[in-house]
Amino acid sequence: MRIFKIITIDGPASSGKTTISRLLAKKLNYLLLESGSLYRLVTYLLLSTSDLKNYLKDSQKLLKFLEDMFKEIEIKLLSEGTFIYWKERLIKEELRSKDVENVVSKVAALKEVRDFLTNFMRKLAENKSIVAEGRDMGSVVFPYADLKIFLTASDEVRARRRFKEKLNKESNCKYEEVLENIKFRDELDSKRAVAPLTVPDSAYVIDTSYLTPEQVLNEILKLIEK
Ligand code: DC
Repeated sequence: MRIFKIITIDGPASSGKTTISRLLAKKLNYLLLESGSLYRLVTYLLLSTSDLKNYLKDSQKLLKFLEDMFKEIEIKLLSEGTFIYWKERLIKEELRSKDVENVVSKVAALKEVRDFLTNFMRKLAENKSIVAEGRDMGSVVFPYADLKIFLTASDEVRARRRFKEKLNKESNCKYEEVLENIKFRDELDSKRAVAPLTVPDSAYVIDTSYLTPEQVLNEILKLIEK
């Protein structure tokens, strides 16, 4: 009989989660669940309605909205990533828009959204071998995971990584602003009432500040062999 395995990778923004979880999923040939893209999807869907404020105020209305919308959503998990289709159209760039970026932390703090997506992700992962990447994968969504990893890096290293990424798109972006933004997002993610960013029980913490992605991957592979 085949044993299904869940590996969780959590951590703050720019700690290396995306890169490492992709490398790991490919190496093990596991499916990759990028939970941030589901929070971005809900934000995108809410922004596409003309009634955003009412949905944020009325939890019954919000839940009904989520249930209805997700009937039209198809999620494909591959080892390359999580692919989202709405009415058979791939939704990708839309999830990275400025509008979504600006509101997603607020939407991700809503209990109705978190409960809905937690149940949704558990069903999605049933009978599969997955690498699940996010903020609360090991602490809330898959507390029974076979291996839990928590990636960290210093504020300055994470800000430098984010700054480099952003420079490609915005030539006038400033390092100090990126650093402030990283600290602000950490504060929001770790202080929110529902499922705050935290090191899950029994997680292995890896500081990626001075490691290459390959070195981090090797550390995780060693843990798996153990
Ligand atoms: O990892 P990301 O940047 O795509 O995440 C987008 C947002 O969703 C970010 O504000 C953190 C939030 N998020 C969350 O609250 N819980 C998760 N499991 C994953 C992401």
